[in-house]
Order: sequence, then C-alpha cells, then structure tokens
Amino acid sequence: MMSNPSLLILPGDGIGPEVMAEVRKIIDWFGANRGITFDVSEDLVGGAAYDAHGTPLHDDTMAKAQEVDAVLLGAVGGPKYDTLDFSVKPERGLLRLRKEMDLYSNLRPAQCFDALADFSSLKRDVVAGLDIMIVRELTSGVYFGEPRGIWDDNEGGRVGVNTQRYTTDEIRRVARSAFELARRRNNKVCSMEKANVMESGILWREEVQWVHDNEYPDVELSHMYADNGAMQLVRWPKQFDVIVTDNLFGDLLSDCAAMLTGSLGMLPSASLGAPMANGRPKALYEPVHGSAPDIAGQGKANPIACILSFAMALRYSFDLGAEADRLEAAVQQVLADGVRTADLMQKDGGTPVTTAQMGDAVVAALNTSI
Ligand code: IPM
Ligand code: MG
Repeated sequence: MMSNPSLLILPGDGIGPEVMAEVRKIIDWFGANRGITFDVSEDLVGGAAYDAHGTPLHDDTMAKAQEVDAVLLGAVGGPKYDTLDFSVKPERGLLRLRKEMDLYSNLRPAQCFDALADFSSLKRDVVAGLDIMIVRELTSGVYFGEPRGIWDDNEGGRVGVNTQRYTTDEIRRVARSAFELARRRNNKVCSMEKANVMESGILWREEVQWVHDNEYPDVELSHMYADNGAMQLVRWPKQFDVIVTDNLFGDLLSDCAAMLTGSLGMLPSASLGAPMANGRPKALYEPVHGSAPDIAGQGKANPIACILSFAMALRYSFDLGAEADRLEAAVQQVLADGVRTADLMQKDGGTPVTTAQMGDAVVAALNTSI
C-alpha cells in the first residue's frame, strides 16, 4: 500500500498558531470527506523554537523539513525577540528553511475576490477581477549575499554591508519557473529589476531575456524598472500576468500587490525548489502576512491566507488541482456570504467573526460542495 503524503506543520509565532488551527480543520475535512489523508507532524519554528531550544530552527526540525512532502508554516517573529542577536532572530529560522531546502521560486498570487473589490484602497474597477502572480526569487540576492555584516570603519564610525549577488543559474532557474507558469495563465511575463543602477540588475535582465529567446519565445516578455513596477501595480495592476523579480524587490512588490486585494490577510504563497526523488518539488507553503503580534491570541486574525496556502499545497505538491479549486471556491463562497474577519470590515460593517468562526464557515462551505 502506498503511504500517505507527509506534511510538517510549523505554526510559529503570534497569530501563526491561531490561523494554523483553522488549516487543521480543513486538512481533517479532506481526510474525512475526500479520502485525501496526510501524515501530519508538528514542530516549532521562530521565536517558539528559540524559547524551547535557544535556536529559531532546531537541526532535527530542519532534517524533518527535508524529508516531508510539504511544509506548512504560519508566521515568525514578535517584539519579544527584537533585542536578540541577529543570528538567532525568529526570521533566521524561516530563512534557513528557504535556503537549505533551496526553495528558489516563491509564488505569490494576488487575486481580488469579487466580494472584496470595494474593500481595496484602490477604486473597484482598478482591482475587480485582478489575478496576477508574483514570482519572487527566494534563496539569493541581498538576503544571502556575502560579504555581509556590521564593522568598525576605523574612523570612529561603523559600516553596515549587504551584498546583492546573482549568478546566471540562479536567475535562469527562477525565470524558467515564471515562464512555465505564464504558459498556463495568460502567457505574459514582466521582469523587474534596477538595471539602470545595478550591475546585478543588468545581468538579471540579460539572463531572463536569454531564457526567453532560447526556451520560451512563445511567451510575451517585457522588462520594467522595479520602482516603476511599484507605481504600475497601483496605477493599473491588470496590465500584469506573471511578474518575476529578485528577493528584495519581490518582498516589497508582493506586499504592495497584497493590498490591492483588500487585505494582507488574504494572500497565500508557495515556495518551491527542485523535484525530489518522488517527483514532487521541495515545498513550503505560508501566508504572506507576518505574525501580527498586536492582534495575536485574540481570535481576530484572518485564517484565509493560511487556508489558501494549503490550497496551493494541494495544487503544486499533490497534483490535486480540482481539490484546490474546491477549497478556493469555498473561500469565495464564504466571502460572498458576507462573512468577515476584523481586517475585512468596512467602517460601518457590522460584527466581525473570529478566526475560528471563519475556519468553521469555510468547512461549512466545503460541506455544501460535495
Ligand atoms: C516575507 C517576509 C520575510 C521576508 C521575513 C519574515 C523574513 O517579509 O516572507 O515576505 O522578508 O522574506
Ligand atoms: Mg515580506
């Protein structure tokens, strides 16, 4: 008998455990109703791991992450850890997972659900029906480049250094993943960098063009400076299909794109690496939002980003696209029915539901789907 696919759940800090508890309900639902059963294990990451082990990611957890079929992560970080040494900050746990699993392609879809179009800070016609995909390079660039550090400058001051560094292979592999996605969408890729001021940006532009010309000439490719890209994202985001960009620009541009959809609490992500022996890609799924310490433990957090991250796992790790569609449709249904967590309330909008009530509403919508 084939064994069940395995999931490692890392709830993390802040609202992470609360939103992940709702994902557990969804996982259980698929087991009970669709015969899709996972072997689920749970472990610590971020500040929670630091509190228990003095490190934001224990070696045993890292080893487990390498073995499972997919990792689901909640969020890391919090003010309690702000004064920790840089090397043990909660964020280092997440960055270690990304780096050691070599998850170079970070998919951040920004979709505007119809029911939320009036909630965006932009006008309805600018965002209604929006469906774009940001592909962020995730394992290189200024996040990891050497040299890095803070040094005395020997003149009584200090100097802080980070290095933006990209190789041909690093650019080409993430470009390929963007072109592949575009072929299954609207066949358009826009690559963003700062080739006007950065040599790494010039290389980025040339290598993306190379991959296009040699391997994906059928896909429409354009290039844009990343600052202009930020502006175009709020001016007329529907001009884009797939955006491919580096680690730091992708971090910024994806937060910006998230707000187009109404709330950061809505956006999932998938971080994918090379295929494993079983053909599945190395994979970690997490909401784009952070640990939101200001609302943690109050039942206010929106679990939808985390739930939709599990939908991405169904689609990208387990080849269960129809089941991912089912889950996304259930979320859409709940929003259309007017169910709203606090982040999705208009000023005069009535009473918000709790995190758990939102999870229950999604389960109820799933029940009507079968
Ligand atoms: C993200 C986050 C992370 C990043 C932090 C938590 C390290 O902002 O996933 O966008 O900067 O990549
Ligand atoms: Mg970010």
